[in-house]
Amino acid sequence: MHEDIREVLFSQSQIQEKVTELGQRLTEDYKDLNPLCICVLKGAAPFMSDLVRAIDTHLEMDYMAVSSYGNSTKSSGVVRIIKDLDTTVEGRHVIVVEDIIDSGLTLNYLLDLLRRRNAASVKVVTLLDKPGRRTTGLKPDYCGFEVPDEFVVGYGLDYAEKYRNLPYIGILKKEIYGDAG
Ligand code: PRP
Ligand code: MN
Ligand code: MG
Repeated sequence: MHEDIREVLFSQSQIQEKVTELGQRLTEDYKDLNPLCICVLKGAAPFMSDLVRAIDTHLEMDYMAVSSYGNSTKSSGVVRIIKDLDTTVEGRHVIVVEDIIDSGLTLNYLLDLLRRRNAASVKVVTLLDKPGRRTTGLKPDYCGFEVPDEFVVGYGLDYAEKYRNLPYIGILKKEIYGDAG
């Protein structure tokens, strides 16, 4: 285990098991709909990459980079589009893939944008949900795990751009982020 991690919340195999289960549900729900899976960079990249390989139906992938956190641990509430989609979403069945929903501000903004672009449907799959921190009414359509209000990193989730490459999800030691959390 990495020395900055206090406790492992979900091991590599627990994550893999959950991703397989979510993939099976999406396979059934999106049969013949050719969904467009949108990865919200950068955090959702590892999850997206594993999830699409667990979905056994035609799909397309695209990437969008929005950031509301920067190097801080608190959402500023201002969502910036850093990279937009290449794909036209009009008439498409969209699945937004996220690593974690915290306040819900990032997704609130994104879902609104996708609906204004006339997607046929927009659903959200998130690996982690932290409902204790929600400031919006947002609820994921598909969720891997609920997590407590702790600073979690790994499997895409960062603190100041670090720890995204950990193969598990863990709680960061408080002395690492200090008062920033
Ligand atoms: C994190 C996380 C989600 C979002 C959740 O992304 O990956 O996208 O914050 O927070 P919210 O529900 O309060 O909006 P971040 O902005 O840190 O960018 P990153 O994915 O590049 O790390
Ligand atoms: Mn993110
Ligand atoms: Mg981040």
